[in-house]
Amino acid sequence: DWNSGNVIAEQVARIQEQIGTGRVICGLSGGVDSAVAAALVHKAVGDQLVCIFVDHGLLRKGEREQVEQDYVASTGVRLVTVDARERFLTALAGISDPEHKRKVIGREFIRTFEQAEAELVAEAEADGQPIRFLVQGTLYPDVVESGGGSGTANIKSHHNVGGLPEDLQFELVEPLRTLFKDEVRAIGRELGLPEVIVGRQPFPGPGLGIRIVGEVTADRLAILQDADAIAREELTKAGLDGEIWQCPVVLLADVRSVGVQGDGRTYGHPIVLRPVSSEDAMTADWTRLPYDVLSRISNRITNEVREVNRVVLDVTSKPPGTIEWE
Ligand code: XMP
Repeated sequence: DWNSGNVIAEQVARIQEQIGTGRVICGLSGGVDSAVAAALVHKAVGDQLVCIFVDHGLLRKGEREQVEQDYVASTGVRLVTVDARERFLTALAGISDPEHKRKVIGREFIRTFEQAEAELVAEAEADGQPIRFLVQGTLYPDVVESGGGSGTANIKSHHNVGGLPEDLQFELVEPLRTLFKDEVRAIGRELGLPEVIVGRQPFPGPGLGIRIVGEVTADRLAILQDADAIAREELTKAGLDGEIWQCPVVLLADVRSVGVQGDGRTYGHPIVLRPVSSEDAMTADWTRLPYDVLSRISNRITNEVREVNRVVLDVTSKPPGTIEWE
């Protein structure tokens, strides 16, 4: 019968056997899969592992700190953070089309990651200990979806910014290949990873870039990060995380409406709350949140985020509405 302690021991032994004294690299996305995969590999081979985390500036408030501080503190992994915020803003300037944004974000992500990777590879080479392995947080459903590929198949790289192109330079290490999402979470908890990471709801690879309807700018990202943080905080406080599949918070950056805030008339932006219940994200229903929770979120956002003067609720199921607005 399934026991997270057994699975950890078994995987650690397998990883040690595969990697031996070799060096290994892993990209962290801030999500649960890469976090648990890296923690397992670190438990198995310690500082033979080095992780790369790309801050593309499209993260939610506090996520970089959760990785750099909480995750590192609880695992002890060696982490290299790449601050690519400017690079992404520059690449995204002037772009409003959702698919165009996805392409640009995916492309910049891969370039940024490969640059960091190349630097680490060169360093290790100079030390006489070349990096031969790459960790991926592939889950069992991903394996099945891709037809049970050979182990070098990269899943959903077209869709997921955390996914990387097939990289034949490395042998893949995939310690989650036999596991389902809830098992991965259980292992993460057993390994003592921060609950903010282990319990994280699905978050799209392109991040807040596809939750700003319109062009992505630094100011707009700051507005959305503040509004999103408030919504998440209130939903968690109300104990509703378990009922919600995810709750995108969307900034309608090109829309303005008239409001009265403080002493005067304002001409600000609306924020959309999109709480959904779902089993697999293929279909979804809008979550009937309690009115008092909605009211608290609305009051706080319009009081605390100056540029927002209206909060609206999306009451559309999927289909016809997708979960994300872009
Ligand atoms: P939609 O909006 O298609 O979303 O109903 C279904 C699920 O997929 C997530 N999503 C994405 N995830 N890259 C990702 O990694 C993307 O480009 C992307 N677009 C949507 C969405 O958050 C939801 O969980």
